[in-house]
Amino acid sequence: MKPSKKTLLALALCAPILLACADQAVNAYEPADGSAAAPADASVDTTHTVTAAIGDDAAAVTDAPRPSREPDVIYVPTPEPVVDAMLNLAGVREGDVLYDLGSGDGRIPIAAAQRFGVRGVGIDINPVRVREANANAETAGVTDLVTFKEADLFEEDISEATVVTLYLLQSLNVKLRPKLLAELKPGTRIVSHAFDMADQWAPEQTQEVDGTRIYLWTVPER
Ligand SMILES: C[S@@+](CC[C@H](N)C(=O)[O-])C[C@H]1O[C@@H](n2cnc3c(N)ncnc32)[C@H](O)[C@@H]1O
Repeated sequence: MKPSKKTLLALALCAPILLACADQAVNAYEPADGSAAAPADASVDTTHTVTAAIGDDAAAVTDAPRPSREPDVIYVPTPEPVVDAMLNLAGVREGDVLYDLGSGDGRIPIAAAQRFGVRGVGIDINPVRVREANANAETAGVTDLVTFKEADLFEEDISEATVVTLYLLQSLNVKLRPKLLAELKPGTRIVSHAFDMADQWAPEQTQEVDGTRIYLWTVPER
């Protein structure tokens, strides 16, 4: 059916408004330049709500696999200088096994594999992130060292880790603390970007880097 002149006129008038809304929605989700921001509670964001407004690309993203449940925190990548500082603060060395809990695009295990030749495991509840991380590992040539798993970080066995990296939220770090202390071997180093463990566990070292703070804990002897 051919659209009437009235319909065409209405579309022409609404198009700029729709485009402006879509742009705002994208910017609200993640900085366009990829720069870091503190991750927010995931309840304020869904990839699908945002991308649904964008037009042609939306179909591809709408068809993307969805997480088994709402992530506890949205995806915000750790800037590369902070990644490097986290690996240094953890004292990553040959033989370590690094677990990134909520691994996003995989940059932390990938950097550890590239810089130190260590094995890494990334766990993320969002299958889109896991797909990105696997593609990035492929590009970086470290698929023999890193593995990415779609899973809930609270449900996975993390006992083989000797280094754990986190960029979650303070409340999630606190919720995770009993699991870290129960499963990880004494001497395992834990480094968190931006968030401490409130009054539940004082960090043994902190460092300012790139306008943010990173924290180090070591699992004590039992
Ligand atoms: C702030 S991003 C950090 C990404 C990466 N670690 C980094 O520093 O660049 C948090 C990640 O945690 C993931 N996530 C949220 N809740 C999760 C859960 N319960 N289990 C596993 N991953 C989760 C999100 O999908 C997101 O990719």
